[in-house]
Amino acid sequence: MQLQDQVALVTGGSRGIGRGIVQAYCREGAKVAFVYRSDQAAADALVTELQERGGQVKAIRADVADPLAPARVFEEMKSAFGEGIDILVNNAGVIRDGLFVRMSEEDWTTVIDTNLNGLFRFTRLAAEMMFRNRKRPGKIISISSVAADHVNVGQVNYAASKGAVNAFTRALARELAGRGITVNAIAPGFIGTDMSQAVLNLVGDKIDKLIPAKRVGTPEDIAAVAVFLASPAASYITGQVITVDGGLSLGVPSM
Ligand SMILES: NC(=O)c1ccc[n+]([C@@H]2O[C@H](COP(=O)([O-])OP(=O)(O)OC[C@H]3O[C@@H](n4cnc5c(N)ncnc54)[C@H](OP(=O)(O)O)[C@@H]3O)[C@@H](O)[C@H]2O)c1
Repeated sequence: MQLQDQVALVTGGSRGIGRGIVQAYCREGAKVAFVYRSDQAAADALVTELQERGGQVKAIRADVADPLAPARVFEEMKSAFGEGIDILVNNAGVIRDGLFVRMSEEDWTTVIDTNLNGLFRFTRLAAEMMFRNRKRPGKIISISSVAADHVNVGQVNYAASKGAVNAFTRALARELAGRGITVNAIAPGFIGTDMSQAVLNLVGDKIDKLIPAKRVGTPEDIAAVAVFLASPAASYITGQVITVDGGLSLGVPSM
């Protein structure tokens, strides 16, 4: 097991990509807390599934956009798994798509508060805790998107948030490298989750032409990379944004 007894926190872990990461980390022997916002049934089902297999897992309800959430979440983690954190996965994210000239203040703020400001606050507290425990090398992993660089109409807010996540990752990696903490991001392409469902319905069977690998990605495709980045094998990788998209971002082939 690659993550035996490591303590991990995954934000947005009840569904989709985050759920895949929680499952994979438990399978690799980590003690995993995850944050979800509202879908308690999904969170409870995941906890039951993993505990039945002997996993150590805790679900914590919180809104990552709430400035007070990180302190409470880390306190609850401490009572479940003891002091300290080894792995933080900033995964919680939302879309509020719409053409820019009609984009409401609320749609802009919700995306930036969830995808960027929440990530900032969770990472700051986690990094402080990792500083205090220098014997355990810390891993910070954020889920970005290929949409940061390969932009779509109607996603100015989302692209801005994910582009900022990429820059945040590189800048923080430089600052924390000397402390033995790695900071990386994963940029998924189309992954089959609730978030991508509307787009996937629109694209329909043209997906084969869009994605060279001729299939939509799965949460497990992303979770495999999240396990690697959290494992000792990745200890010399920092400040990287790793694209996992079946070739989607390679663009249109030239003649
Ligand atoms: N799916 C894709 O194709 C794709 C592609 C590129 C990047 N991404 C990125 O991957 C990440 C996960 O996406 P996904 O497709 O798995 O999304 P999803 O299926 O919509 O699941 C989102 C998860 O995040 C939680 N969440 C959302 N807002 C939250 C908040 N304010 N506070 C706490 N938890 C919150 C949800 O909890 P509840 O269930 O309680 O609401 C749920 O567990 C996001 O950062 C997204 O931008 C996804």
